[in-house]
Amino acid sequence: MEIEYRPIDISDFDEVKYFFITHEYSWRDADPENFIPRSDEEREQIAKKYIIELQDPKEKYHCLGAFLHNKLIGSHFLDRYIIEGKSACHVHGLWVDPSFREKGVAHKLKELGETWARSKGCLLMDSNVKVSNKAMISLNERMGYKVARYNFRKEL
Ligand SMILES: CC(C)(COP(=O)(O)OP(=O)(O)OC[C@H]1O[C@@H](n2cnc3c(N)ncnc32)[C@H](O)[C@@H]1OP(=O)(O)O)[C@@H](O)C(=O)NCCC(=O)NCCS
Repeated sequence: MEIEYRPIDISDFDEVKYFFITHEYSWRDADPENFIPRSDEEREQIAKKYIIELQDPKEKYHCLGAFLHNKLIGSHFLDRYIIEGKSACHVHGLWVDPSFREKGVAHKLKELGETWARSKGCLLMDSNVKVSNKAMISLNERMGYKVARYNFRKEL
């Protein structure tokens, strides 16, 4: 399988739009019960917003895709900011098309995300995972991620 890993092409509006739709899929597939899809108008706005953001030389955001024959089959959306006083990289989303799961695509996307974050001077990676998301918890642990905080909730 000849998968190409590269940042999305911001000159291709449809590619950018679909990247952010797959970002919605990362929420949908991780937590189907609470998923609310965006409207097509919102999707257009998001694509326009990030086409501008991704041209900023500060490179706050990074949108990495895994492509098979130029079709996006995996996405990784990263954002740099300060966490606990340290330059950090937050993972907003990671998604792999169900037909291509358990083949190491997410692992590769995460590795490339870390390489990018390191190249920008980040000292840590940060991500949130639902307790029920066994696949993601397992992948994080395998790649050396440790639990940094708990998010407590109580039904009212
Ligand atoms: C979580 C998710 C991103 C993982 O993607 P993936 O591409 O299947 O992940 P990988 O293939 O890199 O690793 C997953 C497992 O497959 C296994 N695997 C990797 N390559 C393999 C191969 N060639 N053959 C068999 N298994 C393999 C890995 O060992 C890993 O298992 P482990 O973590 O228990 O050790 C994917 O399931 C997904 O998109 N889920 C829905 C969205 C989601 O939950 N996103 C995260 C939100 S926080």
